[in-house]
Amino acid sequence: MRALRSIIPVRHACRSIHQGVSFDKSERHGFDPHSHVSESKTPPSCWYTSENIFEEEKDRVFGRDKSSNNSNWIPGALWNNLDEPGKYESGVFLNEPYLFVNDEGNSRAFYNVCQHHAAKLVNGCGSANSLTCPYHGWQYKLDGRLQMATKLKGIKNFKASQIKLKSIDSHRWGPLMFLNFFNQQNTFPDLKVLNDRMRIFLQGDHVDNFHKHYQHVKTCTYRVKSNWKVVLENYLDGGYHVRYLHKGLDAQLDSKSYTVERFENYSIQSAAPSKESSRSEKDFKDRIGDLGALYAYIYPNWMVNIYTSMADFNVVVPVDVNTTDIVYHYFFHKSRVDDLDFVSRGLEASHQVQMEDTEICESVQMGLNSSGYENGYYAPELEHIAHHFHQLLYKDLSNKRINL
Ligand code: FES
Ligand SMILES: [Fe+2]
Repeated sequence: MRALRSIIPVRHACRSIHQGVSFDKSERHGFDPHSHVSESKTPPSCWYTSENIFEEEKDRVFGRDKSSNNSNWIPGALWNNLDEPGKYESGVFLNEPYLFVNDEGNSRAFYNVCQHHAAKLVNGCGSANSLTCPYHGWQYKLDGRLQMATKLKGIKNFKASQIKLKSIDSHRWGPLMFLNFFNQQNTFPDLKVLNDRMRIFLQGDHVDNFHKHYQHVKTCTYRVKSNWKVVLENYLDGGYHVRYLHKGLDAQLDSKSYTVERFENYSIQSAAPSKESSRSEKDFKDRIGDLGALYAYIYPNWMVNIYTSMADFNVVVPVDVNTTDIVYHYFFHKSRVDDLDFVSRGLEASHQVQMEDTEICESVQMGLNSSGYENGYYAPELEHIAHHFHQLLYKDLSNKRINL
């Protein structure tokens, strides 16, 4: 039996996972988190195609399973939408409606769900003195407590003072506001090296003063027909694909200076600007500027891309096993933000890169769904950060302690 099992192709093992075996029970999923990247194969295609594994990721990586010990922070709003008392921003992540609100200088996060009959309280961004439900008019203070409700004459077993919106742990980092659906007061990851590197772009300032140097100009969402991990792995190949897929961007970067570094729960890739006076129709030297490029990925689902005069923060939002949204928050340095030609050319160059990435991610997803692929290989010196991502993911999914 043992010999027979060892010759069953991994792909077939995956098919059985796809049909109902959970991540925990499938020790034969073909990825060994203890192997060194140089001798490790990439996770099997079922990681990218199995509805069950996708459901377990929702529970154990993104916090739907409250009994899990995991503690991942998810970006949910922009700080500049909350920078004055009364301002709020709402959103939905994996079907969880949430809202952030500035309550007299304190940022709070709640489930965006009325405690009467569960209607959504607010949409989008705005400013208010209280949160009023559009359904039957229940009104909540900005600290989440019920302030007013009408027509409740005769109600029993009801104490207005005990009714409040359900809160979610929140945290600010730089221009982003984060949620932690586990609600166990977990600490935010230590991003010391990233914070230090960000200072180079902020004239020595702390990342929480990002808004003093860069101004938000646009947020947009790209939908990609691939699993969310395909999107991240495209980011985590250590620049491997840049010279082949992004010829415009490649012309602006000094590929010899490209460095790839890994930290406890994030990675940083960086490159100096190209020394030659590069020409390209699709990108331009000025966009990268003298300080070059810094690309950071922070587990599980967000990235920082910063150049001398523009920056974008990406949030990778799983939609279903084959579909992912990437939210782009674009910022420009205040010294350039009024140069409309620069801004529009910068946005266009970024859009071009994303279109190239979208096409390849969708191609990869088709390959992962094909019988022609089981699992692949890492280029160790570059893709060790993708391997690290897979180890972190394995740890969350299996709830096992792994020495990384
Ligand atoms: S559901 Fe909000 S007041 Fe009724
Ligand atoms: Fe890319």
